[in-house]
This record gives sequence, C-alpha cells and structure tokens, in this order.
Amino acid sequence: MINRRLFMQITGAGALSLVAGGLGSLLDLPPALAEVKTGSEFDPDLDISLTAQPTQIQIFPGNHTRVWSFKGQVLKGDKTSLINLERSYLGPIIKVNKGQKIRIRFTNDIPDATIVHWHGLHVPAMMDGHPRYVIPQGESYIYEFEVRNRAGTYWYHPHPHGRTGPQVYGGMAGLFIVSDEEEKAAGLPSGEYDIPLVIQDRAFDNDNQLVYMSGHMMERMNGFLGDWIMVNGHPDFILPVATRAYRLRLLNGSNSRIYKLAWQDDRPLTVIGTDGGLLEKPVYRQYVMLGPAERIELWADFSSNPVGSETALVSLPFDTEMMGGGKMGRGMMGGGMMGDGDRQMGRGMMGGGMMGYTQSLPNGAGFPIFRVRVNRKEKETVSLPERLSTIESYRPEDTVNLRYPRTFHLLMRHMAWTINGRTFRMEEVANDERVRMDTLEVWEFINEGGMGMMNMPHPIHLHGKQFQVLERTGVTHNGYVDEGWKDTVLLMPGERIRLVVRFEDYPGLFLYHCHNLEHEDMGMMRNYYVKA
Ligand code: C2O
Ligand code: CU
Ligand code: CU
Repeated sequence: MINRRLFMQITGAGALSLVAGGLGSLLDLPPALAEVKTGSEFDPDLDISLTAQPTQIQIFPGNHTRVWSFKGQVLKGDKTSLINLERSYLGPIIKVNKGQKIRIRFTNDIPDATIVHWHGLHVPAMMDGHPRYVIPQGESYIYEFEVRNRAGTYWYHPHPHGRTGPQVYGGMAGLFIVSDEEEKAAGLPSGEYDIPLVIQDRAFDNDNQLVYMSGHMMERMNGFLGDWIMVNGHPDFILPVATRAYRLRLLNGSNSRIYKLAWQDDRPLTVIGTDGGLLEKPVYRQYVMLGPAERIELWADFSSNPVGSETALVSLPFDTEMMGGGKMGRGMMGGGMMGDGDRQMGRGMMGGGMMGYTQSLPNGAGFPIFRVRVNRKEKETVSLPERLSTIESYRPEDTVNLRYPRTFHLLMRHMAWTINGRTFRMEEVANDERVRMDTLEVWEFINEGGMGMMNMPHPIHLHGKQFQVLERTGVTHNGYVDEGWKDTVLLMPGERIRLVVRFEDYPGLFLYHCHNLEHEDMGMMRNYYVKA
C-alpha cells in the first residue's frame, strides 16, 4: 500500500505545494506534515480499511445502476463497528464510541482524485479531508484520530475541490455514528429500534443510470435536484415498524434539496437530537426544515397506530424565495409551484421554464419521503425521557467579539456564489479568516440574496466544530431546531444568524462553506486558519 503521507514526507511534495499555493509562507502555515505522528505511535482501538470504488447496485428492476461506493472492512477491533446497508450504494455505517482511537486506511479506487471528510467530527487539520490532501486513483491516505465528539449522528463524504457534488451524488457517503455513556444512560430505543435514514434525491435515465447535471447554467446556480427521493439508497422506501417507539436518525444527504419534514397525519415531530447529538430535552415542531448535510433525530411513537395502518414522513411544499421575506421576488427556482393540498409525488414537468430550464421536482415541491407500515404488535418498553443530555451553553459575554462579530455575506458576484465576495482558493486565507486558538467567537452569516437577480437558501457548514446558535433574525417560519449542537445551519433568503464557536485546539487550515454541493464546487467555500 502506498502511504500518501509517507510519500509526501519522502518527496517533500506537501511542502512544495504550499509554496506553490503562494500564501503558505505569508500565513506561516506549518508544513502539514509536521502535525503527523508516525503510525507506530498510534495504537488504534479500531483499525479499518475504507475503499472508494466503482460498483453496480440493483436499484430498479432491469439494469443495475453504476455507482461509486465506499466499501469497508474491520482489520482490528470490534467487527460490529461497520454496518453495511443492504443493497445500497451508501458506504458502511461506522459506529464508534467516544474516546476510541481509530485508524482508517482509505484507498481511492475511483478514476478521479478524492479525499474523505468526516462531517461534524472534531479532528486535527491533517485528518479533516481538506481538498489539498486529495489522492489520485490507486493511492491511500491514512487517517488516525481519537473520537472526541459526543454521541451523535455524523457522516463522511468526499471533499475534492470542484468534484464533491458528482462524487457524493455517485454514491460516496456514509454515516458515522458516535455513542457515549451519557447517551446510553438516556434510555432511548436502541438496536433495531434505532434507525438511520439517509435522504437523497436522484435522477435516472431509461437505462437506470444516474443522471447528474444537465450543464444548464441555471441548474448550476441552483444546485442539482433529482425527481426520485431515495432513503438509504432505495426509491419508494417503506419502513416496517412495530407498535412502539423508535429513534429515527435522519440525514439530509442530498446535494441541494431542502426538506420540510412533517408527519403525514399532522402530529408534531418530536425532535430529540440535531447535528451534534441529543438535545437537553425533546422539542416539538409541526415541521422541520432540513438543509443539505443537516441531521435531525426524532422520537417516533407508533404505539397507538393500528397494526396494518400506514403513515408517512413527507416533505411539505414551501417557497424557496418567499420563505425569508423574498424581497427579490420570484427568482428562478420555480418553487412553490405545487399547492398546499398537493402532497403527492409529482413527476410531471412543473418547473418554471426560465431560459429553457425545467425542473421536474423543484426545491419546495411536496412529496412523501418514506412510508411507515405498522406490521406487528409489540409491547412498549420505553418512554420519552424528559431529560436527554446536558449541554453547557456558551455565554455570549465570554466571546471575544460579541460587539463586532466576524461577518460573512452570502452573495452572488459575477455569476458565482461567494462568501464576502470571495470564492475558494486552495490555500488562501484572508485577514478576517484567521482565528486565534483558545478563543470563543461569534460568527455571523447573512443571506441577503444576490444582486437583484437570485435569491437562494444556503446551508452553511463549519469544519471541525460543533457550535451553538446565538440568534437568528429574518425568520418567517417555525421550522428550525437551533437548540443543541450544530455544524450546519440553513439560511433562507433574508435570514441572518449568529453562531458561537470555540477554537480550543487543533491549529491549521479548515473549511467553511455552503453545503449545497454545487455551490460548494463552484467555490462557495473558504478556508479559515486557526493559529496556535
Ligand atoms: Cu459535509 Cu465540507 O462538508
Ligand atoms: Cu464538514
Ligand atoms: Cu449556497
């Protein structure tokens, strides 16, 4: 196995690329390699291999679908740490405990450069899957880190610059679930009653092959939207349940689609967790807006549903422009085309035909996500805990910049989505993107819409951190769950959010970006640099 890090150590390629990147020296970036301990010092509790490779999956009757998938294998440690989803393009669920030391030997066997990012995990810069660490086909990258995150539903996906959208779309994604003692003590449904649900949209041709972007300019500006809603890699997903309570872990693994989650029978959602694990106590919402990369955990109690009955988790219709006040008017999304009563899957051509661009299932259309079929009686043994976990709230007065937060404007410039007018450059860090270690900061993101032309939601994500939401303004709906720990927050047009984030350790270069993967690939992504 070729070890990329060793390769770079030998050739000095890492250091060279920093110089070539120009800003490395200005920044006084430590050579990335200096952070690396030799493999021999690291004694993992869990040692796994993870390979990205082309494969074929039967999704529909007839032809198999060609995908790119992660395959995993436990080399050392608990064999149940990897859970394969049946007949799915999704990678194995990596299930670990807080405090475990893990080594992941990643091998790239797809005909494209790539690197893996652990979304939501607090890991050293070298282990975070920054695009500057991409490896070509045939090479390996060894990750070694201790799991420091609290229990929660995290995930992993590729992160090569400009190619994250197509690679995730092609099948490269998986869940990374962390457990800890506090979570175990909460007494939630576990084992077969703890269900991961990855929601994604896809488009297929008549040959059952995935279709990605049409290349139309409007599609690139909006982000990719498919007209098939997949759950765990399956179309028309049905969840069989007993008459009891479940823990449902939902990930929006879509490239750009936003879901307005609700139960079909109008009962409220009982939310117990978000991106960074369990809330302090359950909260109730009539619906939840879930942007790309966000997670939400639900307590779902079917004990009063009769055996043989069905219900569904749906996405309610919403208007992507008007939601946030929509001062720019209709925009070009073709959202809100479906009436409120229309919750059925629409497969017709409904979108606005702006400049020849039609979208068969626009962002904001209504449809069922999956059906729930109650198929057996079972006696209830758990009840919803009043208290789920303990969260220490950051105090705004402890931040170093409460009066002058770092402010990031999400806007369109020169037909490209930008953050403060800038797009991604591999090793570029602006003055307002440098952070001192050991500080608690306020970061503010403002989605004002862009240049009188387009007005879009942006799910904003910070690498390596779980943060707390201090406040939001401009919100015209009640579908956010800002309680608890977050690593990705959705900003509808007109919204402004203030986050509190602590930079306690791990110096180096990390990303923050829009998690609409087409926006990200087009450069709506920047580095921030933590200086020790
Ligand atoms: Cu899911 Cu850069 O992240
Ligand atoms: Cu991330
Ligand atoms: Cu965006």
